[in-house]
Amino acid sequence: MSKDSVVPQRKWTIVMVDDNIASMAAGKAVLKDKFEVFTVPSAKKFFLLMQVVKPDLILLDIEMPETNGYTIFRQLIAENEDFDIPVIFLTARNDPGSELEGLSLGAADYISKPFSPPLLIKRIENTLLISEQRNELKRFNENLREMIGTQTAEIMELQSSILEVISELVEFRDNFTGGHIKRTGKLLEILLDAMVEQGVYAAETEKWERNLLLQSALLHDVGKIGIPDLILGKPGKLTSDERAVMERHVEIGEQIIRRIRQAGEDTLDHSFLTYAEILVSFHHERWDGSGYPRGLAGEEIPLLGRLMAVVDVFDALISKRPYKEAMSISTAQKIMLENSGAHFDPQLIDLFMSTREKIYALISTGDGEAESDPPFDKGTATRNRATRNGVDRKVDFPATSQALYAAS
Ligand SMILES: [Fe+2]
Repeated sequence: MSKDSVVPQRKWTIVMVDDNIASMAAGKAVLKDKFEVFTVPSAKKFFLLMQVVKPDLILLDIEMPETNGYTIFRQLIAENEDFDIPVIFLTARNDPGSELEGLSLGAADYISKPFSPPLLIKRIENTLLISEQRNELKRFNENLREMIGTQTAEIMELQSSILEVISELVEFRDNFTGGHIKRTGKLLEILLDAMVEQGVYAAETEKWERNLLLQSALLHDVGKIGIPDLILGKPGKLTSDERAVMERHVEIGEQIIRRIRQAGEDTLDHSFLTYAEILVSFHHERWDGSGYPRGLAGEEIPLLGRLMAVVDVFDALISKRPYKEAMSISTAQKIMLENSGAHFDPQLIDLFMSTREKIYALISTGDGEAESDPPFDKGTATRNRATRNGVDRKVDFPATSQALYAAS
């Protein structure tokens, strides 16, 4: 930054505060050719003047009746935390203690009287130049921050659009899942709000970035991109072998997220990918350990996975398929409730039930019918055994749960 670039076209304005009339007149005589000079004899008049004049620099005497220079300076700082007008003490006090006190308060300089006129002018000019440069740097930083903010918003918008396109791609391939991905996002939003309102799992939800999380939820079934059309589009029940292939959508989804993470190592916001990874990996795990692919149980399953399981299955239950009718919302809620502590985290089902009016309003205002994975082959219903800690836990299926397992 060159010196010339900060020299203003206008005259700099200086306010001089001094109770000694002769001293004030001498100061003004020295400075008036170079600067616009206002002089005031007391703190009271100084603060009145400051209501109408914003000087580039303040020259402050220290010893004055009533309010001294140090007090004036302290008041200036106390009344405006962004106070950035350079202050120079111009005083008859010439002991090191007074100078140290003035500079410690934040004064730009400390000049003792009697002063040398050319030196006074030079030190004022130096202080003003430094102040101008500091202000220019501040403006530059503000512009830079604004520019980065705009670019970040644009990148986030682009990221969001890409995610939407990917999720639409998944739905486009899976003929039966019209609207499922977007609707589960809205259901998730209702549950997230309720978790915050009711303080459910508050320690974890406090750390979540809501918008990124909701965007990530669009990717929970991204692995279906890799499932063959014959299985993904089969209008009837899947065989156990076909079901095993379908279940691979979790593993494929994990690979896709890992690939995105590697490709966007330096540019993407990785917290969104972390959410996406959890949602993809754990949305088919079940509280009792009978889910897939890992057979985790209880709080071994990350909370986000348990949450996604609730909205994913509920949306599937109320969906119409070629091989099943859509359930009523109340029947679906009943099934969800019956499977609290079995398929689902009981705390999350309590939360889900507390939001049933909002959910009813969402579904009944016409987001269309929901769809999810093809049906579960009853013959494989006991296939999912979770072997943990050496215990083989066979899973029982209550009658009403057949529908649930057909939907998840
Ligand atoms: Fe899924």
